[in-house]
Amino acid sequence: MDFRLKPHIYFNSYMDSADEWRQALASQFDEFKFSVGDDVDDPDSVDVALVWTLPDRGLERFVNLRAILSLGAGINQLDLERLPKHVPLARLVDASLTRTMVDYAKTAVYRYHRRFHLFERQSRERNWTYIPPTLTAGTSVGVLGLGEIGREISFALRREGFNVRGWSRSPKELDNVETYTGRYGLTSMVGRCAIVINVLPLTGETRHILCRELFAHFSNGTCLINMGRGMHLVEADLLDAIDMGKVDDATLDVASVEPLPDSHPFWNHPNILITPHVAGASNPMTAVANVAANIRKALAGERLSQQLDVDRGY
Ligand code: NDP
Ligand code: OXD
Repeated sequence: MDFRLKPHIYFNSYMDSADEWRQALASQFDEFKFSVGDDVDDPDSVDVALVWTLPDRGLERFVNLRAILSLGAGINQLDLERLPKHVPLARLVDASLTRTMVDYAKTAVYRYHRRFHLFERQSRERNWTYIPPTLTAGTSVGVLGLGEIGREISFALRREGFNVRGWSRSPKELDNVETYTGRYGLTSMVGRCAIVINVLPLTGETRHILCRELFAHFSNGTCLINMGRGMHLVEADLLDAIDMGKVDDATLDVASVEPLPDSHPFWNHPNILITPHVAGASNPMTAVANVAANIRKALAGERLSQQLDVDRGY
């Protein structure tokens, strides 16, 4: 087994703190080399790239690279076309990231369930209209994607008493969650939901899944929460679906172009709430054990955990 105790880790992120990651990695490796940004004196010796996005120069100069580890649960921000094809790529699984995603989903769901989105609109109009509250069991929530994050969102909403449905690629059995697969499963599920949450990975199959054809299957007045990727949504179709009353309100944490450009019609739209890709946040101290385990696997030439399956696209 080719196992070196001194990995050379290359780090690049405008979102994550290099200092915090360096400290976290020090809890896992007695000795390691940590290079950040363009500051790499011996690129031949880099073993692993720990990156949110690619540096301008890409990763080509790291000719002995053994793994690319995403600092996100998603990988699309990495510009997959520019990655060396022979190097395995893995996404991040982190309890803090999952927990913050669950909290975001619960917050957005409760905002709709308790009609805060309507009261926000009413209060801007000095309108004191009583809308009676209902019990969570009367609100049906559909979750697109039942992986590490979607599964935990489903369970958390279930614990709150919501009526939860979930859609995934392969069949699932989840306690008290009605599950669906396939195109027919998707269209029949969304028609039964007051709130639809997207937490899918972006792949060839899921790109533009939130589109006119799908919105046509929504019940009138459905609320949409997109926590996946901006390219899951056909943005013009959402505006039409709101105009037609299919979608009442949308909470969008992700956009096709981030940051959302100033001129974008989503800003100031009374039925759209934008959050700046904040739904999930990883924490180096909780994420580092999985990352270190993958670094060890990479050095040992083993398959990574959470390694991208190129055929599935996630
Ligand atoms: P996982 O890979 O664990 O889960 C993906 C889920 O999506 C699985 O249930 C999978 O089905 C399902 N899926 C994939 N393709 C299809 C398809 N074609 N049809 C139906 N279901 C499909 O991913 P995570 O839960 O860790 O993360 C999901 C996504 O959340 C990330 O890729 C990222 O885009 C987004 N994200 C956003 C963040 C934010 O801050 N906004 C933060 C973190 C993540 P199956 O179970 O059958 O494999
Ligand atoms: C993501 C993340 O994938 O923040 O969006 O982890």
